[in-house]
Amino acid sequence: MTKLLLTFGTRPEAIKMAPLVKEFQKCSDRFETRICVTAQHRQMLDQVLDFFEITPDYDLNLMRPGQNLFQLTADIITGLKSVLEDFKPDYIFVHGDTSTSMASALASFYAGVKVCHIEAGLRTYNKQAPFPEEMNRQITGRLTDVHFAPTQAAKDNLLSEKVSGQIEVTGNTVIDALLFAVNKLKNYSNKEIETLKNTLDFSKRIILVTGHRRENFGDGFIHICEAILEIAADPEVEIVYPVHLNPHVQDPVNRLLKGKSNIQLINPLAYPTFVWLMNQACIILTDSGGIQEEAPSLGKPVLVMRETTERPEAVRAGTVKLVGTDKERIVSETKRLLNDKDYYSTMQKIHNPYGDGLAVQRIVEIMKNN
Ligand code: UD1
Ligand code: UDP
Repeated sequence: MTKLLLTFGTRPEAIKMAPLVKEFQKCSDRFETRICVTAQHRQMLDQVLDFFEITPDYDLNLMRPGQNLFQLTADIITGLKSVLEDFKPDYIFVHGDTSTSMASALASFYAGVKVCHIEAGLRTYNKQAPFPEEMNRQITGRLTDVHFAPTQAAKDNLLSEKVSGQIEVTGNTVIDALLFAVNKLKNYSNKEIETLKNTLDFSKRIILVTGHRRENFGDGFIHICEAILEIAADPEVEIVYPVHLNPHVQDPVNRLLKGKSNIQLINPLAYPTFVWLMNQACIILTDSGGIQEEAPSLGKPVLVMRETTERPEAVRAGTVKLVGTDKERIVSETKRLLNDKDYYSTMQKIHNPYGDGLAVQRIVEIMKNN
């Protein structure tokens, strides 16, 4: 029996790890699987655990309001120590580029536990963007024994860095989660969806907005909000913005956008509700990593409000466009999509370079052979 510890802490890690948790749990004759949540996020993590019906074996309950990276990283390393000593796993699985991923990988390295990294090899090679995620991902890559790269380009990054360990290309588990949610939505509703059906004006074109990147705090967010205000001057659009709970996001967004008639600021949504809402939208404005990966499967053009991305595949495929945080650029690109049908339909094409929904099956097969 191989002992596996799957560790995650934030909303996107939970979404992308959930299908893997389920798949490993199906193979209980081969793997003893335990789940550790650092709870770097709390409410936004619990929304995902509820939807996927995952009960953690260990909950470090670390989130503090307005937490800083120093304390968070130290608490994760210390918290993981007790879990690793209690369970003594053969392998730990970490995901992506958060503080939870990097600090859990480091703690596991200290404890002599092999590290498996899901969504390995994404890079901008810019230390400051995304901050601190680029370095979290690079450090995790150095500590990893089995790298699960979502794409060949991600594998090529790892090869060029001469990382140690095994590298496998599997597709991104985000697509497995998305297809699960899309399928479930065929016979599913919830209170949030019903409320949105009653509050959104579907005679208008829905623009969905999200944002949370640290490098956009301050001026970046102010420019994004100014752009949203200008886009909302068009009475034919309805902007809906589930606002991330980080106080550095809540403060400027509420200060600058609250109370405008066609801008709906709402709480973070449960994952199935968010997928439902992506489907209702005509354009998505975001700085999110996960949403850049999901939207091409739904045929939704995405304008990415960042200067650089570690996910160039969809940009190359033409379904995602980088627009930075410059107000004029965000406004003009949005207007172009609203007004130019041919341009909209070239960006809308359904082609997802990130996966086919079979990533977790590949990962489990690889682990069976390890
Ligand atoms: C974190 C990750 C980022 C990831 C993002 C996904 C790091 C350094 N950052 O950023 O890589 O893209 O999650 O959303 O790992 N908060 C709540 N409730 C929640 C979640 C957050 O109140 O459920 C508030 C708290 O005040 C918390 C703050 O948000 O202190 C910041 O959370 P944190 O995880 O440190 O940073 P994020 O910006 O969420
Ligand atoms: N998401 C969600 N509810 C929301 C906003 C986003 O469930 O209100 C999902 C979204 O579908 C995607 C993930 O959260 O799977 C993205 O998380 P986030 O943007 O916070 O982090 P990132 O992907 O940038 O690390």
